[in-house]
Amino acid sequence: MSSTDLSIQLTGLELETPTILAAGVLGTTGASLKRMTGEGAGAVVTKSIGSEPKEGHPNPTMLKLDCGFLNAMGLPNPSYRDFRKELSIASEGGVPVIASVFGAHPDEFVEIIIGLKGASAYELNVSCPHASGYGTVVGTDPVLVEEITRAAKRTTDVPVWVKLTPNVTDIVEIGEAASRGGADAVVAINTVRGMAIDIHSGYPILGNLYGGLSGPAVRPVAVKCVYDLYKALDIPVIGVGGIGSWQDAVEMMMAGASAVQVGSAVHDNVNIFSEITSGLSAYLKANDHCLDDIIGLAHRKVEP
Ligand SMILES: Cc1cc2nc3c(=O)[nH]c(=O)nc-3n(C[C@H](O)[C@H](O)[C@H](O)COP(=O)(O)O)c2cc1C
Repeated sequence: MSSTDLSIQLTGLELETPTILAAGVLGTTGASLKRMTGEGAGAVVTKSIGSEPKEGHPNPTMLKLDCGFLNAMGLPNPSYRDFRKELSIASEGGVPVIASVFGAHPDEFVEIIIGLKGASAYELNVSCPHASGYGTVVGTDPVLVEEITRAAKRTTDVPVWVKLTPNVTDIVEIGEAASRGGADAVVAINTVRGMAIDIHSGYPILGNLYGGLSGPAVRPVAVKCVYDLYKALDIPVIGVGGIGSWQDAVEMMMAGASAVQVGSAVHDNVNIFSEITSGLSAYLKANDHCLDDIIGLAHRKVEP
């Protein structure tokens, strides 16, 4: 294994590697988050947490496809009051723990951020595609995204990341709204709205009828969103969507990602973080590059 330094400063946080566990995958308990820090993740994001306990959608909530996953979990969570202890357990892992929070309006985000004091950063989920009143409903309105971001920034001194939905005509418009609100970074992308139907019964398969597509199928969508956001914004872009190998991580960084999050790929391979970091490290060494050389490289190739 190469010894190339992969440590980064991301919105003022120190990460030993630019790989981050994405929200919602193994982020429900402090113990599972702590475990992922031991697997080589440079930071971890919790499951999205709300102001009240929420059961989520009826089963089935997750479906494996040949090109990725469809899920409609419906933001199940114990509320910030019951999640505080998990946050402090997760913090024992020694890497930044980012609390993902969702709400319907600025005050609700503020309440949760205050209630989850102690996180290294907050990731505002304005992008879940299948939760009524939350997520995409909020995150497709640039005015609301700006207000929520501004309210969050006034509430906390730690970094605020805004996680964007690809289920819009122009993700850059929403990214710019987050940036105007004072976001320290944007995270792109959450899942892409999708649906599956059982051809034997004719019924939609997911309990919620439709859900969000993740995994390899969405990677080109995510790469394009990251590329466009990097071009338009002055704040870091964190890339997420379909990353399952070090090559995928390099591609996302060339599109402009300062760091990458991994979600679906963790289902089949908990070693994914150490595999990405060792592959990335060897790649950089073989090409005599440092991380900064590859971040946004595709832009410099087409517009030197
Ligand atoms: C089962 C599952 C649950 C998820 N839950 C959340 C969540 O609570 N909050 C959130 O912002 N994103 C959530 N996501 C979206 C992921 O964080 C990620 O943005 C998306 O899956 C794309 O990345 P991937 O292809 O690496 O999975 C979830 C994804 C999956 C598959």
